[in-house]
Amino acid sequence: MAALLGLRRYALHIATVLALGLVLAAAGWSAANEREAAIDDLSHEQAVLATAVAAVFEHRLADRASRESGTEPPPRGPLTDVEAIELLGGARRLEDRGELMVLVARPGERGFLTTDARVIPSMRLHAAAEARASTVTLPRDEAVSFGLPPRRAVAGIATVSPTEVAGERPRGRWTVVVMASTARVRSREDHEERRLAVTVFVAAAVVTAFGALARRRQRAALEIERRTAIAIVEGEKDAALARAEKMAALAALSTGIAHEVGTPLSVIVGRVEQVLARVPDDERARQALGIVVEQVERIQRIVRGCLALARGEAPLLVRASPEKLAERAVDLVRHRFDKADVVLVIRADADLPEVSCDPSLFEQALVNVLLNACHASPPGSEVVLSVSPAGRHALFAVEDEGSGISPDVAEQATEPFFSTRREQGGSGLGLTIAREIVTHHGGELTIGRREDRSGTRATLTVLIA
Ligand SMILES: Nc1ncnc2c1ncn2[C@@H]1O[C@H](COP(=O)(O)OP(=O)(O)OP(=O)(O)O)[C@@H](O)[C@H]1O
Ligand SMILES: [Mg+2]
Repeated sequence: MAALLGLRRYALHIATVLALGLVLAAAGWSAANEREAAIDDLSHEQAVLATAVAAVFEHRLADRASRESGTEPPPRGPLTDVEAIELLGGARRLEDRGELMVLVARPGERGFLTTDARVIPSMRLHAAAEARASTVTLPRDEAVSFGLPPRRAVAGIATVSPTEVAGERPRGRWTVVVMASTARVRSREDHEERRLAVTVFVAAAVVTAFGALARRRQRAALEIERRTAIAIVEGEKDAALARAEKMAALAALSTGIAHEVGTPLSVIVGRVEQVLARVPDDERARQALGIVVEQVERIQRIVRGCLALARGEAPLLVRASPEKLAERAVDLVRHRFDKADVVLVIRADADLPEVSCDPSLFEQALVNVLLNACHASPPGSEVVLSVSPAGRHALFAVEDEGSGISPDVAEQATEPFFSTRREQGGSGLGLTIAREIVTHHGGELTIGRREDRSGTRATLTVLIA
């Protein structure tokens, strides 16, 4: 595993070296091909030269023969080596020490006469001449035996027609050879190869350097990204912590308030009951006192529910009709809407399934959202509370026709103590409490700008029973 990781880490370096090797191998292959082509050209040139030299040699040989058979005095006998060299004439000037040499072989003989009168035997040259080949390549050791550098040599071969020469035995074809060393081709190719290798290495070095630079930059960019991500996560954690702290403070506060409110509420109920006993015949007074008791009991229920939530307990769930929940919440806030001259309507889908909730608490959440809509509504406008099914939930949506809510405010709206209505007495707890209630019911609270027109849309969901 560790070896695999190590390999992966150096994969780029390995790939670079492999690519370099491939480029060099391809360059070497192409250079070798070029060298062979250059040697072929060199062979061809030697064949042409040999033909030209052989033509001159043949002409001179014929000239000598005619003198021997003619009236000219006296025949000089068999052709000596020196004479044969002379017959090559100006062709000797072609020679270049250590690079190019002209040779001639008597008919049928394996020894090749050099222009400095050495006779060097070569089976290879002889066989090629016999086979009427125009070129032949000689290996290094044979090239050396002719006095050429230790490199391959190429020879152009031409044969000269037999001429009747007195005293020449046996009759046959003279062979003229022009032999050149490939040393120069080789050294030129070596130079080319070195130049190519240097070019490839310089290119590779430049690419590697740029690659390293790019990698360093990429690493730096990744590091910045990583730090930014960490900063964001830490920021989110801080925000969550601050929120949790506020929620804890809120829970402590509400527990305290619930405790303090409990006693006066019990006193109120006790006193009302005493008064009720004294007015057995006054029906209007009894009705009014009945409402007081009802509302006090409601306050007690909500306080108990909030206390339970603050302690982290689950709400006491019962089956309830969503339409009824909406109606009771609307009843509780109706007088506020009337006072503000805002129309409040309920639009509930028919045959809505029952939901599972603590009705007093859920109604309170709806009340908080409805009151916000009322505060945001201009006189004469309308607020709609609609109820509809949404998958496993029932969805309560409150839409007003106010000036709407900015994304920034919407994001913070459910934070404890966040309020843009401080001067009007806003505590910034309405949506916090509503969200807590909804979340404890397995639902969700959202708030944002209306899409169809100016205004705000807040939604609360609660699980279907
Ligand atoms: N319908 C709405 N239209 C525009 N802004 C709204 C609406 N509902 C809530 N908000 C914004 O969200 C903020 C927080 O609302 P929340 O109900 O928590 O507090 P509040 O209404 O300011 O005070 P309170 O605790 O008395 O309810 C509001 O101050 C207001 O800026
Ligand atoms: Mg509010």
